[in-house]
Amino acid sequence: MQMQPRHCPNSRAFVGLALLLLLVSLASPASSCTAQERSSLLQLLAGLSRDGGLAATWRRDRDCCSWEGITCGGPDGEVTDVSLASRGLEGSISPSLGNLTGLLHLNLSHNSLSGGLPLELVSSSSIVVLDVSFNRLTGGLSELPPSASALPLQVFNISSNLFTGRFPSAIWEVMKSLVALNASTNSFTGQIPVTPCVGAPSLAVLELSFNEFSGNIPPGLSNCSVLKLLGAGYNNLNGTLPDELFKVTSLEHLSLPSNGLEGAINGISKLRNLVTLDLGGNELTGSIPESIGDLKRLEELHLEHNNMSGELPSALKQLHKSRNN
Ligand SMILES: *[C@@H]1O[C@H](CO)[C@@H](O)[C@H](O)[C@H]1NC(C)=O
Ligand SMILES: *[C@@H]1O[C@H](CO)[C@@H](O)[C@H](O)[C@H]1NC(C)=O
Ligand SMILES: *[C@@H]1O[C@H](CO)[C@@H](O)[C@H](O)[C@H]1NC(C)=O
Ligand SMILES: *[C@@H]1O[C@H](CO)[C@@H](O)[C@H](O)[C@H]1NC(C)=O
Ligand SMILES: *[C@@H]1O[C@H](CO)[C@@H](O)[C@H](O)[C@H]1NC(C)=O
Ligand SMILES: *[C@@H]1O[C@H](CO)[C@@H](O)[C@H](O)[C@H]1NC(C)=O
Ligand SMILES: *[C@@H]1O[C@H](CO)[C@@H](O)[C@H](O)[C@H]1NC(C)=O
Repeated sequence: MQMQPRHCPNSRAFVGLALLLLLVSLASPASSCTAQERSSLLQLLAGLSRDGGLAATWRRDRDCCSWEGITCGGPDGEVTDVSLASRGLEGSISPSLGNLTGLLHLNLSHNSLSGGLPLELVSSSSIVVLDVSFNRLTGGLSELPPSASALPLQVFNISSNLFTGRFPSAIWEVMKSLVALNASTNSFTGQIPVTPCVGAPSLAVLELSFNEFSGNIPPGLSNCSVLKLLGAGYNNLNGTLPDELFKVTSLEHLSLPSNGLEGAINGISKLRNLVTLDLGGNELTGSIPESIGDLKRLEELHLEHNNMSGELPSALKQLHKSRNN
C-alpha cells in the first residue's frame, strides 16, 4: 500500500502552534513535580472513597504541578499549595501529604473527610496554613512532643468537625508561630488553654465556641498581647471573669455567651478596643458599669439573659438616642 502525502491546509497554523508549545515549555522549566511528590498526591487519592472526579483529571497528566487544585512554586518548583475545598471528597486524609516538603497551604475544608487528622500534617515543618474545617474528622489532636522543633504553622482551622478529647497543652510549645486557631464547633472537653500566648506570642484569633470546654477563664490569657478575638461561647465555662482578662487591651471581639459565668463585669471598660462584646446567657450579676460608655469603638453589646440589675448607664441611653436620631 502506498502512503499518500496528506494535504494539510493548516500546516502553517500547525507549525505556529508547535512553536508556541515549545516556547511555553521553555518558559516554565521549573514547573514539573518529582516522582515522590506525585506519589504522595496519588496516595491521597488512594485514601479517598469519593474523589469528586479528581482521579480522572489527575491521571491525564504526569506533571502533578498542572493538576487541578495543585500549585507549584518557589525556587525549586515544589508543590506549595493543595487547595481541594468543596470537592465532595470522602474518605480519609493520607499522612503521605506530610511528605510534600515544600507544602505551605493545605485547604481541605467543606468536604466529607473522616478519620483522624494525621500527626504528620499537624507537625509538618513546612505547612503555614492548614484548613480542614467542615468535615467529619474524629478523634483527638495528638499530643505533640514538646521536644519537637518550632513549627511554621500560622493558621490552623479544625472548626466544624467531630473532634473530641482535651486540647493538648504541648501544642503551644511547638506552634510558636500560630496567629489563628479556630477549633469551634467540635466536642473538645477540659479546660480552655491556660497560657497559650507564652508559647505562641503572635496569637490573634482564638476561636473555641460550640464545644464542651469547662472550668474558668484562665488568668494566663493576660500574656496575650496581640489577641484580637476570643470566642468561647456555648461551652460549660464557669467562675468569674478574671481581672487579668481586662489587661488584654488588644481585644476587639470578646464572645463568651451561653456559659455559666458569674460575678460582675466592672473591669470591662479597660478593654478599650472592644467592637463586639457578647456575654449573654450567663449568670452575671451586678449592674452594667457607667464606664461602659468609655468603649468608644463598641458596636455590638449583648448582656441579655443574665442576672444583672440596676439602671441602664446613661452612656448607653445616649447611644440608643443617637442611633434613633
Ligand atoms: C510518605 O509518607 C508515608 C506516611 O508518612 C510513609 O510511610 C512513606 O514512606 C512516605 N513515602 C515516601 C516516598 O517518602
Ligand atoms: C479554604 O477554602 C475555603 C473555600 O474556598 C475558604 O473559604 C477558606 O477561607 C480557605 N481557608 C483559608 C485558611 O484560607
Ligand atoms: C478557618 O479559620 C481561618 C482562621 O480563623 C480563616 O482564615 C478561614 O477562612 C476559615 N475557613 C473557613 C472555611 O471558614
Ligand atoms: C472559624 O471557622 C468557621 C468555619 O467553621 C468560620 O465560620 C468562622 O468565621 C471562623 N472564625 C474565625 C474567627 O475565623
Ligand atoms: C505573663 O503575664 C504575667 C502578668 O500578667 C507576667 O507576670 C508574666 O511574667 C508573663 N509571662 C510571660 C512568660 O510572659
Ligand atoms: C466550675 O465547674 C467545675 C466542674 O466543671 C466545678 O468543679 C467547679 O467547682 C466550678 N466552679 C465554680 C466557681 O462554680
Ligand atoms: C438573681 O438576683 C436576685 C437578686 O439580686 C437573687 O435574689 C437571685 O437569687 C439571683 N438568681 C440567680 C440565679 O443567681
